[in-house]
Amino acid sequence: MTSTPHDAGSRDAGHTPARAGHSPIRHGLDVHDVSWSVKGTVIVDGIELTAPATKITGLLGPNGSGKTTLLRAVARLAAPDRGVVHLDGVDLARLRRRDLAQRLAVVEQHAGTDHDVTVLDVVLLGRTPYRSALQGDSSDDRALARQALAQVDMLDFAERRWSTLSGGEKQRVHLARAFTQQPALLVLDEPTNHLDIAHALSLMSLVRRSGLTTFAALHDLNLAATFCDHLVVLDRGRVRASGTPHEVLTPQLLRDVYEVDADVGVHPRTGRPLLTFHPPDEVLPDTAEPWIPGASATPETVARGRS
Ligand SMILES: Nc1ncnc2c1ncn2[C@@H]1O[C@H](COP(=O)(O)OP(=O)(O)OP(=O)(O)O)[C@@H](O)[C@H]1O
Ligand SMILES: [Mg+2]
Repeated sequence: MTSTPHDAGSRDAGHTPARAGHSPIRHGLDVHDVSWSVKGTVIVDGIELTAPATKITGLLGPNGSGKTTLLRAVARLAAPDRGVVHLDGVDLARLRRRDLAQRLAVVEQHAGTDHDVTVLDVVLLGRTPYRSALQGDSSDDRALARQALAQVDMLDFAERRWSTLSGGEKQRVHLARAFTQQPALLVLDEPTNHLDIAHALSLMSLVRRSGLTTFAALHDLNLAATFCDHLVVLDRGRVRASGTPHEVLTPQLLRDVYEVDADVGVHPRTGRPLLTFHPPDEVLPDTAEPWIPGASATPETVARGRS
């Protein structure tokens, strides 16, 4: 089992399946000068970033800023035009598919899977990089898959057909598949986009407790502020900012990149940034009076408030 003082404790807490094999040295992810273009249009350009070992690095940025493209290039689902990606000191471009899949698990933004399979079959796909072509699932594989399903609160669905699951259920099963792969790096593209708030919090907690180096595109900035150790912000295909949540999530950055006005406070329990966004002027009530929930504003009450 790969072990550092940090991740040994994390695994005990998170019950993430133990992992055999790779180098005990954890450097994390290093992305150097990665670019990818399509039909002459540069989509991500000269990306430089690091994702520290055993931490969660959040990849932020507006729609179309290049997050999915970058994650796909990092995971070698699309070879970058130039640049190099190292994981724990190993150049990912030099690895065979099977070796890559033992080190890195991806949950894509629009993850598809063959329809005529059970949920357990989908999770067992995570064991494929460890088997020969003719080998079936072992009892250990099944135990790992069931353990991962339990972690994402989906064990009761193990025998269900994949095609019958809701979007959020599928997302949780894909995370279970990624855990079952026992990677060093988790690459997650909007892992909470279909999840209700309870499951979003629980998924991010689970990822955090896993102690795996994680690189995750996120849209929910408060979720990113709460769970990420390090943030990278993309804007039109380039890195606009990187650092801790407090360093990155400033009103100025939010205005410059997302074109929104926000107040940035401090969460009373986590000490992390807490963002509140200003709605556009047109949704504010047409009165100087504060809006009181439950009190319906009729033209008469608004007029009375003004007099
Ligand atoms: N194969 C392609 N052909 C043409 N344009 C592409 C291709 N792939 C990506 N793009 C464009 O590149 C830009 C970045 O796309 P990408 O999916 O990486 O954005 P994103 O940051 O993940 O956005 P979102 O938050 O909406 O998921 C978009 O404008 C997209 O339309
Ligand atoms: Mg995307």
